[in-house]
Amino acid sequence: MSGDILTDNIAATGERPSNAVLDNIYRRRSVRNFSDKEVSDEIIKELIRAGTYAPTAVNKQPWRFVVVKNKRLIDEYDERAKKAFVAAYKDTKHPDLIGYVRNLSKPEVRLFYGAPVLIIIFAAPDAMNEHDCALAAENMMLAAQSFGIGSCWIGLAAGLEYNKEFLKEAGVPEGHKLVAPLIFGYPSKDNLKAPVRNSDVILKWMD
Ligand SMILES: Cc1cc2nc3c(=O)[nH]c(=O)nc-3n(C[C@H](O)[C@H](O)[C@H](O)COP(=O)(O)O)c2cc1C
Repeated sequence: MSGDILTDNIAATGERPSNAVLDNIYRRRSVRNFSDKEVSDEIIKELIRAGTYAPTAVNKQPWRFVVVKNKRLIDEYDERAKKAFVAAYKDTKHPDLIGYVRNLSKPEVRLFYGAPVLIIIFAAPDAMNEHDCALAAENMMLAAQSFGIGSCWIGLAAGLEYNKEFLKEAGVPEGHKLVAPLIFGYPSKDNLKAPVRNSDVILKWMD
């Protein structure tokens, strides 16, 4: 065992195992270009259903979903999220954040890339709930991939959590934490290349 998970299987068998679940995992990419094709309500409900089949600590199922399909509203929340980010980090000295602030200050930059569907996962108040919601998010992104729908987690939009008007409009109860702003839509570009994975990730293998 070399500790290189990307090559060990090939060395042992000549080829990697393949099945529908693995195909979805390996084919899913973060998608940032979308066509105008509508994502049906039935599919959106199925994505949420897939989210709710993620494991949860003590089976609490703490997730709550806000679905935004209205283009004007998605643009409006995009703008508010950008403003929240810039306001929060405008005086930062962190080199990465300085770059984001500069970029998000440009009017033409869209955090949600013009996606036709925005689903934001909120966690009901409790200690472990953010883990559960992150698992739901990945289930949803993989389910989307199975329908040929692209997705992307937009962490830079997390500032929406502090936008009181948005929380009111979205019916988010007091104390809920915004965990995952996710965009969905049919991709307008094919064959997105996966960013290279670091393969030497196993600290130790103790047989
Ligand atoms: C917590 C989290 C936050 C992310 N935030 C953003 C974001 O704000 N904007 C963006 O374009 N991509 C965002 N991404 C997508 C990552 O850039 C992407 O997952 C990573 O580059 C690997 O590419 P892949 O998803 O195609 O495998 C985020 C992903 C995660 C998990």
